[in-house]
Amino acid sequence: MRKITIAIDGFSSTGKSTVAKQLADALGYVYVDSGAMYRAVTLYAMENGIISEKGFDKEKLIAALPSIHLRFERNRDSQKAHIFLNGRDVEKDIRNLQVSDFVSPVATIHEVRAKLVAQQQQMGLEKAVVMDGRDIGTVVFPDAELKIFMNASAQERAKRRYQELLQRGEDITYEDVLKNLEERDWVDSTREDSPLRKANGAIEINNSEMGIKDQLNLVLQLAKDRI
Ligand code: C5P
Repeated sequence: MRKITIAIDGFSSTGKSTVAKQLADALGYVYVDSGAMYRAVTLYAMENGIISEKGFDKEKLIAALPSIHLRFERNRDSQKAHIFLNGRDVEKDIRNLQVSDFVSPVATIHEVRAKLVAQQQQMGLEKAVVMDGRDIGTVVFPDAELKIFMNASAQERAKRRYQELLQRGEDITYEDVLKNLEERDWVDSTREDSPLRKANGAIEINNSEMGIKDQLNLVLQLAKDRI
């Protein structure tokens, strides 16, 4: 069977990662959550005084990039590979609303994108990879055999994300989550470098009223048709 590359892009909280992960498991492929990489760089900036209440020092972040080392590792009791920032498992720390508030501005910086895209392309060299993000089908793997663009209404996405954060014990309101999603969508789709776009040849799935199982069956069939 030939190995293919699968790129899944879309707006925030469209359920990309759930589908991408299950698809990778079903095919025996590697799953890469590219958003986790932008989040980890943001966490580094927050922990090292590059982002603070006073503001965001872009030049300082660019200068710090060589000191930021990211890798994914799957440990015995986690199904999903966790992201490690300079040797520390930060999978949980990168998911809070503070990181979510700063990640999109960080992801507009060309030098940050260049570093992360190069690492993502390296991870995809052998194919057999499912990667989700915002620019996977347009920039990281423009030749991917299967490209998916996921979408859902902002209200539905905020509802899902709010439930997820509540379950994790975060003290937030639905309105905060909706505001964050809308701001990120706007920054992600209007930035100069690699704006969020439906890639050429991508298949759009609107999952506002679609369950996980149906989405998985659909993408699995699309993948099998290309293998
Ligand atoms: O996927 P997730 O919502 O965790 O991504 C967090 C943020 O990282 C996005 O809102 C976007 O600003 C940035 N991102 C990106 N390009 C990617 C993946 C994520 O710019 N490929």
